[in-house]
Amino acid sequence: MSAKPVILTGDRPTGRLHLGHYVGSLMQRVQMQDDYRQYILIADLQALTDNGHNPDKVTQSVLEVMADYLAVGLDPEKTTFCLQSELPALPELTMYYMNWVTISRLERNPTVKAEIKQKGFERSLPAGFLTYPVSQAADITAFRAEYVPVGDDQLPMLEQTNEIVRKFNSLAGRDVLTECKPVLSKVSRLPGADGSAKMSKSLGNAIQLAASADEIKQSVMSMYTDPEHLRVEDPGKIEGNVVFTYLDAFHPDQDYVAELKAHYQRGGLGDMKCKRILNDCLQTMLEPIRARREEAMQDPAHLMAILKQGTEKAREVSGNVLADVKKAMGLDYFSKF
Ligand code: TRP
Repeated sequence: MSAKPVILTGDRPTGRLHLGHYVGSLMQRVQMQDDYRQYILIADLQALTDNGHNPDKVTQSVLEVMADYLAVGLDPEKTTFCLQSELPALPELTMYYMNWVTISRLERNPTVKAEIKQKGFERSLPAGFLTYPVSQAADITAFRAEYVPVGDDQLPMLEQTNEIVRKFNSLAGRDVLTECKPVLSKVSRLPGADGSAKMSKSLGNAIQLAASADEIKQSVMSMYTDPEHLRVEDPGKIEGNVVFTYLDAFHPDQDYVAELKAHYQRGGLGDMKCKRILNDCLQTMLEPIRARREEAMQDPAHLMAILKQGTEKAREVSGNVLADVKKAMGLDYFSKF
């Protein structure tokens, strides 16, 4: 029997997870947990890189995110959950990798660049934020991850990771570290309910997995459609129409969605009707998730015990990679002489 390939993913705990996370990665993780050795890292150190002024937001979200994971069907028997701040090998690796990454390379990372602009950091850019791709390279390599399921905004991180891997391996003259490949989901970027490019908690356009039935309905009813589709009998546009983007992403009957789209484009199908269909679909999908989530939140000690157990396993794995890296650099002084 050959060992299952390793996958590593992670999330910044800065609030509850939402539908963007669900289609972007959670659904895929649930599917993959049977066939891979899957690690999920709760990246609280990375979350602190832009929340240094507000650590409570991060620490309070760890439990929420754990509840979200279990609620969507991730199984602690199959998936190892671990907490970044309890894995000392990660910041150690980060410090070493930092020496093979230039500031100008970091400044060119398109995702980091966009985030810096969006957050308006200017001269108050935290050093930790600019360098978080290096710490993410440590996350990925510390598990010898072969696959990293991510949204397309994370591709620049994997590119930087692989650059570090290649640099280190060529320096060492052998393959100490493992290169990784992205696994993209069908919908890797869900637009916000308001029509903006990405669903994000900080943009205030997110539908949380924990959303109540009323909150879901409210979001759907105020959703961006085709602003020029004024009368039911007029033809409507489906490009950029968030209701249809969501039906594509979530409706179990895609033939039916194709019919709806054709009808909408022809004219004669109103926005209200489409929104009601989407609302029913999301309510059906999120109801059992919400119930499991509430149940999980009743026993925080149990959630933490699961995280602790996974973190202990992860500490061993990541510690071994750190030891290999140090040895390859000749930093194994105390066992060498
Ligand atoms: N950067 C990811 C995010 O913003 C979180 C993350 C941290 C991650 N470490 C990772 C993702 C390692 C994949 C692999 O959501």
